[in-house]
Amino acid sequence: MRIYQTSDYDEMSRKAADIIAAQILMKPDCVLGLATGSTPVGAYQQLSRRHAGNEVDFSQVKTVNLDEYRGILRDDINSYYYFMRNHLFNYVNIPLENTFIPDGTNPNADAECTDYEKKIAFLGGIDLQLLGLGHNGHIGFNEPDDHFPTATHCVNLTESTIEANKRFFASADNVPKQAYTMGIGTIMKAKKILLLVNGSEKAGILRKALLGPVVPQVPASILQLHSDVIVVADKDALSEIDTSDATRSYSSAS
Ligand code: F6R
Repeated sequence: MRIYQTSDYDEMSRKAADIIAAQILMKPDCVLGLATGSTPVGAYQQLSRRHAGNEVDFSQVKTVNLDEYRGILRDDINSYYYFMRNHLFNYVNIPLENTFIPDGTNPNADAECTDYEKKIAFLGGIDLQLLGLGHNGHIGFNEPDDHFPTATHCVNLTESTIEANKRFFASADNVPKQAYTMGIGTIMKAKKILLLVNGSEKAGILRKALLGPVVPQVPASILQLHSDVIVVADKDALSEIDTSDATRSYSSAS
């Protein structure tokens, strides 16, 4: 595991965009696993800018998103389908038919989740999976549990996740209570994982994820077992970790 410490959110976003752009350069038809939420927005803006400057070509890239709320319409402003168009897909030259997100409108959870796993396998698996970190240690919507769920599945969101995500909705009551999410096994099969974390409010859970025991009560702790994980986190998020042994002092490239 490599840990890059950045001074702030912007530098974290630039570093993340550097890594994603390099992945696309090395393998123009790569499969990117993407995340939503506040954390990757800056990286998506960077990638959009670099695309506008002819620095990144998405024409052969394929994407698979981690998750989607169950029961939400695709044109709902809170759907992850809408989010991805609004934050990335509308600004780069990715053919929309090469972008995949679980279909939250499919009421048949088993069929949707099985189909999503098949899609990822058909694409050849994920080359680089981008992750954010939930306040309770979730990755994707794999919530703290007594086991690590393996494949894409339907999950009941915890109160803490509903609380954290209500900022996007009129009230907590409007936050969907279920989601379709890649499983921990799906995520761990990615060839490379890029975890982005910012802000002091995530310092405690980041320490548990990176240095604590590998337990399903802290889903992100499983990343300790992956052989190719890059963590890019700002100094606030890393404030509870002694980074002296880690690769640090990233200086911004652009
Ligand atoms: C998003 C996702 C979630 C978020 C996590 C952090 O697709 O799967 O795991 O990455 O909830 O969210 P933010 O970035 O909003 O703090």
